[in-house]
Amino acid sequence: MTYSRRIRPSMHIVHTIADLRAALAGRGRPAFVPTMGNLHAGHLSLVAQARPLGDVSVASIFVNRLQFAPHEDFDSYPRTWQADCDALQAAGCDLLFAPRESDLYPQPQTFTVQPDPQLDGMLEGHFRPGFFAGVCTVVMKLFSAVFFASGGGTAVFGKKDYQQLMVIRHMVQQFALPIAIVAGETARAGDGLALSSRNGYLDAAARSRAVQLSQALRALADAALQPGADLAALEAHALQTLSAQGWEADYLTVRERSDLSPPVGAPQAGQLVALGAARLDGTRLIDNLEF
Ligand code: PAF
Repeated sequence: MTYSRRIRPSMHIVHTIADLRAALAGRGRPAFVPTMGNLHAGHLSLVAQARPLGDVSVASIFVNRLQFAPHEDFDSYPRTWQADCDALQAAGCDLLFAPRESDLYPQPQTFTVQPDPQLDGMLEGHFRPGFFAGVCTVVMKLFSAVFFASGGGTAVFGKKDYQQLMVIRHMVQQFALPIAIVAGETARAGDGLALSSRNGYLDAAARSRAVQLSQALRALADAALQPGADLAALEAHALQTLSAQGWEADYLTVRERSDLSPPVGAPQAGQLVALGAARLDGTRLIDNLEF
């Protein structure tokens, strides 16, 4: 008996910017998914979404020190190199860029990209000062590495990090980068919890309660669309509900999708997003729901 099977070509792995640029020369336009590794089904769905959007699919794995405050989890952030490589290979990624810290930051990164203060001053930017400057700086550098040979292409970012997606879109527009930013839907576990690398910090008891954050956002969104809804009161109620369930919430709020400003006038379905960030047993989770 003869068997025939399609063998997926091996994913190429490079560590330096020079090697990445050389590997991409003449390969056409990249479709790029940046990650910090510890990949889950959400990341892999972004890779699947990216693949048909370019001539060569590229992912990066780099835990970016610049976007962590000193008290945050840079050192303990899960690093799962071999599993990540296997998953990307199985997902059909052509090229993995996995710089060491010395490859991306050979000198201290004193030149940084500062996001728009208005967008940076709210929600995640307010509760994690410096976070978006760290994200923008590394993403600008990754874009420079990935899109150097082609002069442009596509990058896919998940809606799970809703404000990050908006900040990156704004950066691309303001710097006239020839890169199309495509949004990927949030992948969820069976109970509705948004997939996140930080879910791995939760023990079984906390994991079973973690869906309460997305439930609170659903309840907030539903209530916001009721005639005469008082958003401030609804947000305060949502915070109290989560707090009574043992969470420490940073924010639970309804915003315009277009610029994350608070809605003016009666909330309009189809234009809004409910966003939340809260700690459960010390693990900070974020989620959002467009409605
Ligand atoms: O969303 C992430 O995983 C990170 O913020 C990113 C975009 C890879 C930059 O380090």
